[in-house]
Amino acid sequence: MVKLRRLVLILGVVGAVGFSLGVFGQQQPQDGPGYVNGTSLVRPRDYRSWTFIGAGLGLTYQGETGSRAAPMFTNVFVNPSSYRAFMQSGTWPNATVFILEVRRSKTDGTPITGGQFQGDLVGIEAEVKDARFEDGWAFFNFSERNTSTLLDVAEPLSGKALEPCVQCHTEHTAVERTFVQFYPTLLEVARQKGTVKPGF
Ligand code: HEC
Repeated sequence: MVKLRRLVLILGVVGAVGFSLGVFGQQQPQDGPGYVNGTSLVRPRDYRSWTFIGAGLGLTYQGETGSRAAPMFTNVFVNPSSYRAFMQSGTWPNATVFILEVRRSKTDGTPITGGQFQGDLVGIEAEVKDARFEDGWAFFNFSERNTSTLLDVAEPLSGKALEPCVQCHTEHTAVERTFVQFYPTLLEVARQKGTVKPGF
């Protein structure tokens, strides 16, 4: 009996050490996603010091009508460790966070006589590649409905709110769920690594 108990104890200790090593091995990167309640994303405060991968101006999509009088800028940032991994492999590692920052465009400023520059922040959306989500990816919106306030924490979008994100980010993206076709320096890397989907 005593021997058995000791064996159980030893196995328990070995198991615990093994488990913690395993957990340690899968540790999330320091600059990766921060969550509360398991899956609600904390809005990264320092994304402006992350890697800037591209910008769009006034992008509209199939099915949308009318050109906006003042097109919006969209700035895209990714956490630096995931950027470095992409540069090596052409794919996004687990725990990658993308921030899409939406800003108004402006035309009135000395000495401007033509063209557009960026103005006020309008909203922030995010996308995360993380195995903790059933689908491996999750989408978030930090803009509070009908206000200009930003949420500190956003639940993963679901149902009707999530559908268009997943659909467009699956059907029309060049690499995984991301629009690498619009980030020219990344596209070059993805082409070299052979990770671009057929058709791009
Ligand atoms: C009809 C197509 C479409 C839909 C729907 C859509 N997106 Fe996007 N998304 C884009 C395009 C195009 C880009 C490229 C970058 C840009 O807009 O400047 C992009 C880029 C992004 C990025 C930057 C990383 C990447 O994947 O390239 C994030 C984050 C993002 N979208 C979040 C969302 C969220 C959240 C939703 C749903 C609420 C959503 N998107 C719905 C087309 C779409």
